[in-house]
Amino acid sequence: MHMSKLGLGIDTTFDDTSVAILRGKREVLANLTLSQYKDHEEFGGVVPERASRKHLEVINQLITLALKEAQLGFSGIDYIAVSNHPGLLGSLLVGLTVAKSLAYSLQCPLIGVNHVEAHPYANVLSHGAIPFPVLHLVVAGGHTLLIKANAHFDYKIIGRSLDDAAGECVDKVAKMFGHPMPGGPVVDRAALEFSGDTYDFPRPLMHKNEHNFSFSGLKTAMLRFREKQLEKSSTSGNAVKQLPEEGPILASFFKSVVDVLIYKTFKAAEIHGLKNISVSGGLAASRKLRFAFEAEAERKGINLFYPPPNLCTDNAAMVTCLAAHRYEAKQFDDLKLEAFPNLIY
Ligand code: KG4
Ligand code: ZN
Repeated sequence: MHMSKLGLGIDTTFDDTSVAILRGKREVLANLTLSQYKDHEEFGGVVPERASRKHLEVINQLITLALKEAQLGFSGIDYIAVSNHPGLLGSLLVGLTVAKSLAYSLQCPLIGVNHVEAHPYANVLSHGAIPFPVLHLVVAGGHTLLIKANAHFDYKIIGRSLDDAAGECVDKVAKMFGHPMPGGPVVDRAALEFSGDTYDFPRPLMHKNEHNFSFSGLKTAMLRFREKQLEKSSTSGNAVKQLPEEGPILASFFKSVVDVLIYKTFKAAEIHGLKNISVSGGLAASRKLRFAFEAEAERKGINLFYPPPNLCTDNAAMVTCLAAHRYEAKQFDDLKLEAFPNLIY
């Protein structure tokens, strides 16, 4: 008979600062996220030291705001959750240091969470408990993973991106066409508006290498395509030749990404005899991807779990939700908890 515990969770893994307050396992009292995209725009990518500094500038205020929204004081908090890997070391350190200080001063448990493992918990927040066994597809910015989970904390990665993650590939291709980070929403809009059948881009490892993914070949194919296009337009005489419309190109590109994700995920579910699939991670905020998964799940008679867009992208609510399950299992960390950049299982 667990009383509904109150957790305060922090996520500063990359370039979003997020603080959440959760009651029990599912009741989100606050979930505030500040994105740094604009702060890095002039550099064309996330600058690690700058990201760390930006987290520092806003973290305390965000905690105060979250408590206010939840109508709570520090004394009401039962445990502190924090993502301590994977991510940018300097960014992780800010969240971890604040979390440790809070846990120490409030004399409450500290729970360190694997950020990538937390993404699927967006589905616990939005759908309640997810039935096990389940196949999680996590399509985050830095990782594309297929995880077979038999229970909470009992899972195995059965597929992963061997080079660029799907989200990373989408962001880089959007950048080739002059779009700032994050590229996902721009590509998603093009994919909804235009046919993805105009161009035929590669679908790497679609039928190979078991459940692993590779998107760098597709990225390179897009780069060559773009270079050729620009070359043609600059060598076509005095009048600058108009470039073909970008929408159908991005739509065709995204079709390749979606086809690979759908095919490999449902194939893995079939091979492992899994009837439940959960999708999560920033790229899952794509409506095109969601529609494609819904249609395929319906066709194959699979139970699909898919969170709303605001829980797909990085947020501290999913981190706190995973921590709430850890709290129940009494899996606590101590103040020696370290931050580490790599994904470690
Ligand atoms: O999970 P996430 O927020 O961060 C990491 O853990 O890395 O994922 C970021 C990725 C980026 O590739 C971004 O372009 C993509 O999610 N993304 C989207 C949308 N919002 C963010 N992709 C498609 N449609 C969106 N609305
Ligand atoms: Zn993430």
